[in-house]
Amino acid sequence: MRVQVAIVGGGPAGHLLGQLLHQAGIDAIVIEQRSQDYVLGRIRAGVLEQGTTDLLDELGLGKRMHREGLVHGGFALNFGGVQHRIDLHQLTGGKRVTVYGQTELTRDLMDARATLGLRTVYEAEKVSLHDFDGVRPKVRYLRQGVTREIECDFIAGCDGFHGVSRASVPVNALQTFERTYPFGWLGILSDTPPVSPELVYANHARGFALCSMRSQTRSRYYIQCPLDDKSENWSDDAFWDELRLRLSPKLAEKLVTGPSIEKSIAPLRSFVAEPMRFGRLFLAGDAAHIVPPTGAKGLNLAASDVRYLARALAAFYAGSQAGINAYSDTCLRRVWKAVRFSWWFTSLMHKFPEGGGFAQKIQEAELDYLVHSPAAATSLAENYVGLPL
Ligand code: FAD
Ligand code: DHB
Repeated sequence: MRVQVAIVGGGPAGHLLGQLLHQAGIDAIVIEQRSQDYVLGRIRAGVLEQGTTDLLDELGLGKRMHREGLVHGGFALNFGGVQHRIDLHQLTGGKRVTVYGQTELTRDLMDARATLGLRTVYEAEKVSLHDFDGVRPKVRYLRQGVTREIECDFIAGCDGFHGVSRASVPVNALQTFERTYPFGWLGILSDTPPVSPELVYANHARGFALCSMRSQTRSRYYIQCPLDDKSENWSDDAFWDELRLRLSPKLAEKLVTGPSIEKSIAPLRSFVAEPMRFGRLFLAGDAAHIVPPTGAKGLNLAASDVRYLARALAAFYAGSQAGINAYSDTCLRRVWKAVRFSWWFTSLMHKFPEGGGFAQKIQEAELDYLVHSPAAATSLAENYVGLPL
């Protein structure tokens, strides 16, 4: 089979790119190693920047997001037993974020792909990338015992951090930058009303906590936990008790608890691979970079990468190589700013084992500065809503 672009990975980056290419009249196939249900079963990101919601609107796919998503003009920082609001709308000249789960966004993209009759291969095994240093790259995979080969002009590696795309690049062609953090996030999902109408990021001497949501009746909560902890070690009651301890008393009082419907631990990592292009292979999203989740940048970065990539490929087919040549540098300028912000927000909000009382006091002083200095609050707000593309 022959297509213009073979997209490896059917997460949000791969599906968004598929839709953008279709809009540009470029023929693409999505090759995903898991089943559709598996991809939709992963509970991940929750907050979309305005740039990401605008992208969905441009694709004509924003209808359900506008109906069901929750538009937030601010969020709260909870520390020292008190809550303070960061007014995103006022500090950024009218910008907002939308709470709409990654699962829902991916479902909308999958449905649109199916309705348009665009090709997606699920449960593709042993996916391998070939000849991307030349002009006729190929992707091979095994499906139902038969090996298939797709010949293409370009490969888009949208297969996440553990995917095959980045791993296919010769080691000496790649420079990587990495920071791991000595803790994880234990997250639960529950069919209970959110404790607060807006998100709450809590700094506490016992560790970080985040109160988020998926709807008016479904909550998503996270607490910082040891890296080697297991979700099985945490009963629902133990989770709720620990969360309550990390929130200001006034907020903790309002917490409505109930049985969890999902409970899992995610490690935290900052990682960037440079460059993001090798010949005719382009990396996008988590395949090229990872940020710790504090500040919800991962999915939004995946969206900005594929927006740049779709534009570059459209320009290529219209006769200009400028876009594909600039792709890596253009993405990385934005990526590094989000890596910096996510690292900074993580460092500000979490308890570090080596930190002790001094580190806690410094964090509280910076938080106090943030909520009382319009200059500092504006910097936080403009990064949170997303830097311009
Ligand atoms: P992915 O979503 O990882 O999609 C990659 C796809 O490629 C997957 O479907 C995978 O099955 C497929 N694939 C992998 N290998 C192959 C292969 N060899 N062949 C074919 N297909 C393959 N971000 C936030 O902003 N907020 C959050 O709260 C948040 N929570 C997170 C929690 C967890 C546990 C994780 C892992 C990430 C979280 N993130 C969060 C980050 C966010 O979910 C990612 O940035 C986002 O999913 C990136 O999308 P992607 O399409 O690049 O990668
Ligand atoms: C969510 C996750 C985040 O990392 C964040 O900063 C905000 C919200 C969430 O899953 O809802």
